[in-house]
Amino acid sequence: MSRFWNKKTGSLTPYVAGEQPLPGQKVIKLNTNENPYPPSPAIAEFLKTFDPALLRLYPEPSSRKLREALAEFYGVRPEQVFCGNGSDEVLAFSFQAFFETEDGANPLFIPDVSYSFYPVYAQLFGIPTEKIPLNEDFTIPVDAFCRPSGGVAIATPNAPTTLAMTQSDIRKILESQPDRLVLIDQAYAAFGEEFCTGLLEEHPNLLIIGTLSKSHSLAGLRVGFAIASEEIIEGLKRVRDSFNSYPVDTLALELATLAVRDRSWYEENRRRILKTRAESAAELSAMGWDVLDTSANFLFAKPAGISAGELYKKLRAAGILVRYFDKPRIREYLRISVGTGEEMNALLSAIENILKRRNEDSI
Ligand SMILES: Cc1ncc(COP(=O)(O)O)c(C=O)c1O
Repeated sequence: MSRFWNKKTGSLTPYVAGEQPLPGQKVIKLNTNENPYPPSPAIAEFLKTFDPALLRLYPEPSSRKLREALAEFYGVRPEQVFCGNGSDEVLAFSFQAFFETEDGANPLFIPDVSYSFYPVYAQLFGIPTEKIPLNEDFTIPVDAFCRPSGGVAIATPNAPTTLAMTQSDIRKILESQPDRLVLIDQAYAAFGEEFCTGLLEEHPNLLIIGTLSKSHSLAGLRVGFAIASEEIIEGLKRVRDSFNSYPVDTLALELATLAVRDRSWYEENRRRILKTRAESAAELSAMGWDVLDTSANFLFAKPAGISAGELYKKLRAAGILVRYFDKPRIREYLRISVGTGEEMNALLSAIENILKRRNEDSI
């Protein structure tokens, strides 16, 4: 606690992101669910001729170009799209805009286990929450979310557990909360289920959150978005314009728009990731691992013959970063982003070597 912090700052428990190696450090990075391939080549082309003088000016504040591209991509109207500086920011705006903070307000329902930024935002904005434990098999206990609440925030596919909800489960929750906002975070939907835009027409309480970080290989650009009814989008704009009117910068706007318009890159990238994902999951299962049925660009799996904590440390020492959460219910699992085929082969060989050395040491 510093004497310069206010009480609130002193009380925060901030989010801890996965380790980012220093530039130039040689590691195989499978710990933050980035896409392992470079983004659309249209981006490199554009940067060759970009005129830096354009950076004198503030960006177009409503991100119109990008909203139009996203609207076409997801089959909605541009007025239903909102863009921000990464979906983390769009999530933060959403928590601020729609969930109640008053004493005695019904709590926001979030799953326990899920994206660990949700409770952090709730704490920052003073939103009471109720954490609803996942079922034994890590699926979402849908009925438990269909009770009077202050709103709902769920990731599907869920992180770190990789499982997706069906559209009918999402509909059930929406129908049970007609006057409450239901936030469905689809950061990883490109790698599994459909975006649930089809539910928007009948459910004005639905707010879908998306990101270009994973599906378009643009984690470093920081572009996320929301898709919802205009009524909800208006709420997001009010919060944005009370905080930072230009969340998407000029370069991000141009590059993200090019990436979204490059459909063939998207399809090909998706195909490659899904192929490597299936191969890696099969190899780990063959080694006796318990691999959850993934709809994301990462695996959530329980190692065989070694604890997750020990394997995480040994992989790290071997230059391979995966994510380990030393938390109840999931401390026996590792979260492993799907890298290139070569990176996944290196991971599998490293695991085999670690297990072999361990067995030799114990003889
Ligand atoms: C479920 C989920 N939502 C949102 C995000 C944030 O993504 P970004 O801020 O890069 O758009 C992440 C990042 O890992 C995530 O796992």
